[in-house]
Amino acid sequence: MHTLVTKSINKASEILISGEIVAFPTETVFGLGALINREDAIEKIYLAKGRAKDNPLIVHISNLSSLDSLVQEIKPNVQKLIDNFWPGPLTLIFKKNNSIGNFVTSGLSTVAIRFPKHKIAQELITQCKVPIAAPSANISGKPSSTKYQHVLEDFEGKIPCILEGKTVHGLESTVIDCTSEPFSLLRSGAIPFERIEQLVGLRKTTGRTNQPKSPGMKYRHYSPKAKVYIVSENSHLPEVSYETSAFIGLRDLETSKIFKKLICKDLDEYAENLFSFFRDCDRESIEFIYCERPEDLGIGKAINERLSKAAS
Ligand code: TXA
Ligand code: MG
Repeated sequence: MHTLVTKSINKASEILISGEIVAFPTETVFGLGALINREDAIEKIYLAKGRAKDNPLIVHISNLSSLDSLVQEIKPNVQKLIDNFWPGPLTLIFKKNNSIGNFVTSGLSTVAIRFPKHKIAQELITQCKVPIAAPSANISGKPSSTKYQHVLEDFEGKIPCILEGKTVHGLESTVIDCTSEPFSLLRSGAIPFERIEQLVGLRKTTGRTNQPKSPGMKYRHYSPKAKVYIVSENSHLPEVSYETSAFIGLRDLETSKIFKKLICKDLDEYAENLFSFFRDCDRESIEFIYCERPEDLGIGKAINERLSKAAS
């Protein structure tokens, strides 16, 4: 199959309407989308990604009026989140309406919904006149795609179309379960969880349970081929060979052992570059990637969640 890389939203929407899948940019990462009323196309997303069938998809909308037909109720605290953060990198879990097929939600009675801020994503959904179900556009287990070239790396010859565009945050949306109060944080992401906590409160997490918070969180994620180590300021690095080691973080490590380094000026830049750095390292046959552990605050918490998964 030829993979068309295009800037034409028209062309991409035609392909979606014909029952095919299309990768498109959002402000977080690229999504791999299909219309929510095309079970055949949704099936193609799972096949292309090698995604487990029990891992549900996020439904992307481009106006608030379509929400009513997708969910059972919008509680006052949910409305607060919507008013403050939509459009934006926040995914909310609702009790779903029967209008959404089980093939979108892996049979769950709930549905994840996001109204992206990205103009290209919004226009694509609007042109299709139907919401778009989309997971991140990467082979399952690999780092999410923050550039269209990453999507090509994973899917050239396997999907018909990639819509070009730029992402902003470089990691995925924050996911909040709003089906029971207080709400729970299922995945840290581009919107700092503290802002949500301030606004509506969040359930206190009580230690470790074996129950994954979200179906997708039990799977291996964000992993480059290289081995990932999380380091703090005074960590002792194991002996490794210079040419095959890389480092990403906020402060330079004063060591001559590291061949490839990316020192980021702040947490936003760290988040924006992390997945891209992982992919660059793989292309350059780096074997060991050292990642500085940032403070567990704001987007630092989202970075740490990604690092822990990548290192596991
Ligand atoms: O920023 C993002 O969220 C990107 C862009 C493309 O929107 N999408 C994304 O999708 O990261 P994905 O599939 O890679 O991650 C969605 C996460 C998964 O962990 C999935 O299990 C969870 O959301 N999820 C989806 N529906 C759910 C539901 N009904 N209940 C609980 N978790 C759900
Ligand atoms: Mg993903």
